[in-house]
Amino acid sequence: MAEYIFPDGFDWGCATASHQIEGSPLADGAGESIWHRFTHSSGMIMNGDTADVACDHYRRYKEDVALMKRLGLTAYRFSIAWPRIFPEGRGHTNQAGLDFYSALVDELLAAGIKPCPTLYHWDLPQSIEDVGGWRNPDTALWFGEYARLMFEKLGDRVKFWITLNEPWVVAFIGHALGLHAPGLINVDQMLVVGHNLLRAHGQAVSAFRQSGRDGRIGITLDVQAAQPATDSAEDKAAAERYAAFKDRWFLDPIFHGKYPDEMCEAFPALPEMTAEDKKIINQPVDFIGVNNYTRSVWRHNEVSFLRAEQVFPEGKYTEMEWEVYPDGLREALVWMHEHYDGPPIYVTENGASFPDDVAPDGEVNDDDRLDYVRGYLKACHAAIEQGVDLRGYFLWSLMDNFEWGFGYSKRFGIVRVDFDSQKRTIKKSGHWYAGVAKNNGFSD
Ligand code: GCO
Repeated sequence: MAEYIFPDGFDWGCATASHQIEGSPLADGAGESIWHRFTHSSGMIMNGDTADVACDHYRRYKEDVALMKRLGLTAYRFSIAWPRIFPEGRGHTNQAGLDFYSALVDELLAAGIKPCPTLYHWDLPQSIEDVGGWRNPDTALWFGEYARLMFEKLGDRVKFWITLNEPWVVAFIGHALGLHAPGLINVDQMLVVGHNLLRAHGQAVSAFRQSGRDGRIGITLDVQAAQPATDSAEDKAAAERYAAFKDRWFLDPIFHGKYPDEMCEAFPALPEMTAEDKKIINQPVDFIGVNNYTRSVWRHNEVSFLRAEQVFPEGKYTEMEWEVYPDGLREALVWMHEHYDGPPIYVTENGASFPDDVAPDGEVNDDDRLDYVRGYLKACHAAIEQGVDLRGYFLWSLMDNFEWGFGYSKRFGIVRVDFDSQKRTIKKSGHWYAGVAKNNGFSD
């Protein structure tokens, strides 16, 4: 019987995001976000789904915090919707929005759960998109002002802040592939967006340091082990190019103050890292959040994007067609530890979408999801044994929710949501995870 016991004080959490769970996107003076616009106008969301109701968390947050307490979570990662705070993105503030997040923080603290907000999980105010969005350099400054207000209003109780969630997805999927809001397809603009997101991250870090608030601030990046399909030099180089694009694009500027050479070679239009940019971007962070769900395998292909073609090995895949490969998380964590000065790390997202098996009595026996989480937690334990300063794990997700372009067709929750009745049911994986949080680990 193997034991997987984690360090004392290790945080056991779940993660969600404002647009994916809250519903009521325009309630109480909130401004429109680019995701509200995208879901209502692009035709790009499966089944025409929108997040207008989602998990109705804006109104049911007390019930959901009670659920988190039942699960024994020590921390909860959520995101703050910028348009609820600044309906136009800057200028006028919306007291009802500030009140909602203040009440949520108080509810979490009363339940003994650490509030861990992300300031930006993709729901940009549409009013800012209307003046260029992340292509507009001023947006980084407006983000800094939004962050400054949040530190002022919540910083007395919130001690753990994440600036951005997955800037790579915002830049690449939202501005090059056009599959996420705002739905643009322009590689040069993708590069400008990535640069301005890095500047926005730096503006928020500076605002936090100047706020005098105690606590920690970091960024969440989707870091994935990119592996060569064979030991050939060509395939290894292809995997390196993809790792530079997927992971180092943001890690290197933050930790090393410059873009990776492979990015500069692949994208001549990459914005210059001026001395002023470097000063704001290359500031110390207190931790790195890592979102990891799978690995990727690459072979050289002269005509592919980045001259790298993804291959899909035999094995088990989730409903998102992501390979179940727990050692990829260990590898990603160890790689970060070795390449970025051994920073404190939190796994800020990990989880799996599988079809739920709902028994006649309503029980959800989601063994696939439970096995997935168990395997990835073993990988986290192995990374810690290799010296990684891993301090917590946030399972994606607390409950089934709006999965962006997939709408409600993909369920990641350890709690099932019946979207017609809004009934919550803790799944088998949720009961298992509650045991892990209680025992600070598990035996196998
Ligand atoms: C992401 C986002 C989450 C997703 C989750 C499942 O990592 O893409 O942070 O909002 O819902 O990862 O795809």
